[in-house]
Amino acid sequence: MSTCIFPRVANERLPQLLQAIPEGYDITNKTILDYGGNRGNLLEDGDEADMIDPSNYTSMDVDPDGLEFLKKLYPTTNTIHYDRYNPAYRHQGIPMLPFPQADDTYDIVYSYSVNTHSSWQDYVFDISEMTRVCKPGGLVFTSKFELTCIQHMLDKRVKDWDIFEGDPGGTDRTVSDFQDVTDVIYLVDNNTLLNIDDQIPQQSKYLITYYNEGWLLNQIHGMGYKTELTRSDKPRIQTLIRLIG
Ligand SMILES: C[S@@+](CC[C@H](N)C(=O)[O-])C[C@H]1O[C@@H](n2cnc3c(N)ncnc32)[C@H](O)[C@@H]1O
Repeated sequence: MSTCIFPRVANERLPQLLQAIPEGYDITNKTILDYGGNRGNLLEDGDEADMIDPSNYTSMDVDPDGLEFLKKLYPTTNTIHYDRYNPAYRHQGIPMLPFPQADDTYDIVYSYSVNTHSSWQDYVFDISEMTRVCKPGGLVFTSKFELTCIQHMLDKRVKDWDIFEGDPGGTDRTVSDFQDVTDVIYLVDNNTLLNIDDQIPQQSKYLITYYNEGWLLNQIHGMGYKTELTRSDKPRIQTLIRLIG
């Protein structure tokens, strides 16, 4: 994974976000932090729909290439290169680096397909930072894999990934490796499955994090938030989780 300009995924991020926001909430003119936003898939949807002004949008990512691409496309938008460690995306970054923003900065803090590629410890830290930088009464979203997404990722892993030199990119893993998980399971690189207490290798090339839904929601509720889930009818699209509280 390490550095990549994520592919354009048209008309998926915005429609799902609109479905997930409370009735009557107007996102026009709201400031949005897209945490792990890469090349700005949400902004492109929002700009085309005339609902997100580039100057109100910020993509904060550990990957400078995605941000550079976004800035060329939308010179007036905001990008933040965040030098945080991630086992697959940024090996040289700083672990648990606080977000650079002040408290209560954004109306909406949105994150899609970021904590599905990080450790549980990172997810806990991100929840506290995402909610900290969101204004009181603002909206905070994160995402999680469904098993259908895992199937999609495994298929994709077989077909597309040639990141392992001398390795055609296959995996022996199947969805059945994930379906009985009671808390968290990590798929690291080709075939390695790790549990919540295992150490993820410092420099992996590929990381998928799958959560048992009941366990995950219990943990988040234990942190003091209520949750609202927005699932998609497209099997490969992750479920958005709104954190309330
Ligand atoms: C699978 S891509 C999703 C990109 C984008 N959110 C989208 O949905 O199109 C994951 C993104 O998260 C970024 N990322 C991973 N860990 C991060 C972290 N701790 N902070 C910010 N970005 C991170 C990666 O660099 C990558 O751009």
